[in-house]
Amino acid sequence: MTLHRFSLLVAMAKNRVIGINNRLPWHLPDDLKHFKSLTMGHAIVMGRKTYESIGRTLPGRMNVIVTRQLHYKIPGALVVNSIESALRICEEHDTTGSGESFIIGGEELYRQTLVFCQRIYVTEIQSVFEGDAFFPEIDQMEWIEIERQKRIGENAGDLEYHFVVLERQGTI
Ligand SMILES: NC(=O)c1ccc[n+]([C@@H]2O[C@H](COP(=O)([O-])OP(=O)(O)OC[C@H]3O[C@@H](n4cnc5c(N)ncnc54)[C@H](OP(=O)(O)O)[C@@H]3O)[C@@H](O)[C@H]2O)c1
Repeated sequence: MTLHRFSLLVAMAKNRVIGINNRLPWHLPDDLKHFKSLTMGHAIVMGRKTYESIGRTLPGRMNVIVTRQLHYKIPGALVVNSIESALRICEEHDTTGSGESFIIGGEELYRQTLVFCQRIYVTEIQSVFEGDAFFPEIDQMEWIEIERQKRIGENAGDLEYHFVVLERQGTI
């Protein structure tokens, strides 16, 4: 049996901003498409605040929401009270053998789950944004860049962003 892989999925600005006032600071439809194509058919794990920011469960994926609230219920989602339960549920429910689950934020979740992840899919937005949620610094020695696709919109002033894949050293 192959090991289940946990991957972290994030879009961040040059100054590591990922959010402001519990929403995304940018409008980047191409990144949302990228997010959808990566996660479709897989489990996605998110913090309660990120769930509330999205405002609905995402179809075609097992939505796992982490909260310390004992009676928090969301129709169509699995609600758990610890990171460990979230990870265990992803492994146990991998009946399709998809082999990979995604941690989709936000900052609190990233900080606590980075250690369990073998891969980071990061959209690096090549601009600085104001924000109040950040992606944690990672140890550059621990991660190898295995893919980078540069993208830029067609209109002047459009954001430039790169779809980057990082793999933890020793896993390739
Ligand atoms: N750019 C991106 O890719 C991206 C992706 C996702 C989110 N975001 C942004 O990130 C921001 C939200 O991040 P955030 O750090 O404020 O919130 P978050 O990580 O989404 O959620 C935090 C909540 O998760 C629950 N939680 C965290 N650790 C837990 C644990 N060990 N056990 C049980 N429950 C736990 C708690 O919920 P309770 O308070 O209910 O107990 C906590 O308040 C927003 O601005 C959002 O737009 C950006």
